[in-house]
Amino acid sequence: MAEKFIVTPCGALRGSIEIGGAKNAVLPVLAAALLTEQPCTLQNVPSLSDVESMRVLIESLGAKTRAAGEKGSITIDASDVTSLEASYELVGKLRASFLVMGPLLARFGQAKVPLPGGCAIGSRPVDLHLKGFAALGADIDHSHGFVTATANTLKGAKIYLDFPSVGATENIMMAAVLAEGQTVLENCAIEPEIVDLANFLNSIGGKIRGAGTDTIKIEGVPRLHSQNIKHSIIPDRIEAGTFMVAAAITRGDVTLTNVLADHVKPVTAKLKEVNVSVEESDDGIRVFCDTDTKAADLKTLPYPGFPTDMQAQFMSLLATAGGTSVITETVFENRFMQVGELKRMGAEIKIESRSAIIEGVKNLTGTQVAASDLRAGAALVLAALRAEGITEITGIHHIDRGYDRLDLQLNQLGADIKRIIE
Ligand code: UD1
Repeated sequence: MAEKFIVTPCGALRGSIEIGGAKNAVLPVLAAALLTEQPCTLQNVPSLSDVESMRVLIESLGAKTRAAGEKGSITIDASDVTSLEASYELVGKLRASFLVMGPLLARFGQAKVPLPGGCAIGSRPVDLHLKGFAALGADIDHSHGFVTATANTLKGAKIYLDFPSVGATENIMMAAVLAEGQTVLENCAIEPEIVDLANFLNSIGGKIRGAGTDTIKIEGVPRLHSQNIKHSIIPDRIEAGTFMVAAAITRGDVTLTNVLADHVKPVTAKLKEVNVSVEESDDGIRVFCDTDTKAADLKTLPYPGFPTDMQAQFMSLLATAGGTSVITETVFENRFMQVGELKRMGAEIKIESRSAIIEGVKNLTGTQVAASDLRAGAALVLAALRAEGITEITGIHHIDRGYDRLDLQLNQLGADIKRIIE
């Protein structure tokens, strides 16, 4: 059943909000749990539909998962993997499911995974993942829309990534952890989620150094094992960034807890540039704004640059800032899906190639809009909080992929968002 949000203007958001575990950290860690026959427990797991899709996928391969006592904890037992083939239905739902390839290949010498199809935010190929597996000695075969990777033994290698892809870094790291000898992964991604994955892999016996820098060294081990592993997922820097913008766009005053200030630095810096106050304290980050915001230019880049996953939400803020802003998207080639909908709300935005030119307007107006993907959907919710009149947002299943009840959390800060079943 389709659901939609009805957003009624509410004025300044105020209060405190606890940030959940990072979607983009838990998805690779769930895949990595396939590397070991020992059960492991993950804590601070957010309740998101993407996490549920990944859980269903690893269960379809034979892993068993169960809630582990406290809220947000799950135990994964991959002692009995019964299939090395991921189904098209599951991978089609979630691109990150391609991340099961590295673990299956490393532990069982084979994996068959459908090629992730086109996607709302660009073509998103997996060539760098496959080049990495081939460098480790795997044979790669494409047929009937599936990729099959096979290897009797994976052998450590020196691999240079043409682009610091997050997924390729993770997938290759997970394959190399059980390869013979040393792998050196250069020009790799340095996102905090890579560090979280490396920490998890090391906690189950992997030997990985340098995660969080652009060169990762992995000494292969014959098997991964460890008793009573408990790994707590890092806080979600994109969820945090979204609430920071929510505070700013409503001229509110919101304190975020369970957030790592270092991880949101690029967002903090941009908020300060547009006149928003951000203060760090021992228990979190306070974001407040009681003045007009001004225009700023920004360019999305791999970490520690401004995150592409915050681009759409920041555009909503700049849509009502004084002056002209230019946003340049360098990570994905087609990630301005929110623009048409923001324009329907009165924003003045022009797209020229990979840049969006935003003329700040005084007011946005509520109307019917559709979320086309996760972050575009979040951007529409933020714009709706600021708009005059009521906004109706359809396609909110995209938002539920990456936010644990964004509507209820914003309502807790004073917003008025109703979830309606159509
Ligand atoms: C991850 C995040 C996603 C975020 C993105 C960039 C997860 C589950 N998702 O996605 O939210 O927006 O990082 O921060 O962590 N590319 C290639 N060949 C490849 C792989 C990638 O050309 O083999 C290109 C992509 O098309 C894209 C760019 O590299 O243009 C970045 O992609 P990548 O860093 O791999 O993103 P994901 O891991 O898919």
